[in-house]
Amino acid sequence: METQVAIVGAGPAGLVLARLLERQGIDSVVLEVRSREYVEGRVRAGVLEQRTVDLLTEAGVADRLQREGMVHAGLELRFGGRGHRIDLSELTGGRTITVYGQQEVVKDLIAARLSAGGALRFAVSDVELAEVESERPAVRFRHDGEAHELRCDAIAGCDGFHGICRAAIPPGALTVYEREYPFAWLGILARARPSSEELIYANHPRGFALHSMRTPEVTRLYLQCEPGEDLGAWPDERIWAELQARFELTEGFRLNEGEILDRGVTPMRSFVVEPMQHGRLFLAGDAAHIVPPTGAKGLNLAVADVEVLADALSAFYRDGDERRLAGYSERCLRRVWRVQHFSSWMTAMLHRPPGQDPFEAQLQHSQLEYVCRSRAAATTLAENYVGLAEV
Ligand code: FAD
Ligand code: PHB
Repeated sequence: METQVAIVGAGPAGLVLARLLERQGIDSVVLEVRSREYVEGRVRAGVLEQRTVDLLTEAGVADRLQREGMVHAGLELRFGGRGHRIDLSELTGGRTITVYGQQEVVKDLIAARLSAGGALRFAVSDVELAEVESERPAVRFRHDGEAHELRCDAIAGCDGFHGICRAAIPPGALTVYEREYPFAWLGILARARPSSEELIYANHPRGFALHSMRTPEVTRLYLQCEPGEDLGAWPDERIWAELQARFELTEGFRLNEGEILDRGVTPMRSFVVEPMQHGRLFLAGDAAHIVPPTGAKGLNLAVADVEVLADALSAFYRDGDERRLAGYSERCLRRVWRVQHFSSWMTAMLHRPPGQDPFEAQLQHSQLEYVCRSRAAATTLAENYVGLAEV
């Protein structure tokens, strides 16, 4: 088998890349270890930056997103007994974010890929990369009981944090930057009307909590918990009681409750590898970096990477110009580090680390007040949250 670009992983990074290449007439094959049902059912992120929405729209995969996505012009920070609205739109010259589940983005991209007749294989196994330092690298894999070798000009490693692509780079060629956090998020999806029109990021003495949504009937909620928390210790009543307590900072506020449709624990990590490329292998999205979800950036950053990669591949095929491919990692990493900083700043400002000392708690409170009182500080939050156009 042959193609121009072999794409490992059918998450947002791999599927958006396949779509962008398709629009440039560049042939690709997408390989995914999981089934279509699994990939389409995986509940993850929900906030799309305006530039992500614009890119999906230009790529012709945003019809449903335009109809069903919930456009938000602001968010609430809740702490110290009060809610404070950050007017994202007013602070950023009219920019907004759109709430639309990652799994819906993935469903739309898969449908578009298959209806365009693009190659996309689910449930492959034993994926291995070969000769990534050559001009004709290969991906070996098994599918339907048969062994295959896919030769290509370039491999896009879009296989997420636990994928195999990053490990195909000799360790000596990589620098790893990493930070673990002493907490995680317990997330639920509930059949309940959102309790507020906007997202609420709450800093409560019992820990962080987040109110988000998916549709006018479905709420997405998170609460800070222990890393590796056992879900068995969290029956529905305990989840709701804890969420109610953490949002109750504002008098008279009650969360709408409902059937819990999905639940999971998300670890919190900051992680970057540099460079994001080796020979003809290019890492994109979670394969190259992880951000804690407090800034709502993981998915948006994955899309930003593949926009750069599609642009570089298109220059390569159009003019034989390899310079943009050579500069891929450097170009991506500027945004990656900006987003790393923003995500870790939001995380530090909103969570209660175990054993937080009182001095630290006062600093955190002062920082939150400053963000809510100072237009300059609020703009810093807003412009990063909606997504910086240039970095
Ligand atoms: P992924 O979405 O991880 O896609 C990688 C794909 O590669 C997967 O489909 C995987 O099955 C496949 N794959 C893996 N190994 C192989 C292989 N060997 N061969 C072929 N395919 C392979 N971000 C937020 O902003 N908010 C959130 O609430 C949030 N929650 C999250 C919860 C969880 C449990 C996780 C893991 C992430 C969460 N994120 C969240 C982050 C966000 O979802 C990711 O940043 C985003 O999915 C990155 O997209 P990606 O395409 O790079 O990687
Ligand atoms: C979500 O809706 O899943 C979501 C929203 C904001 C975040 C993280 C996740 O910061």
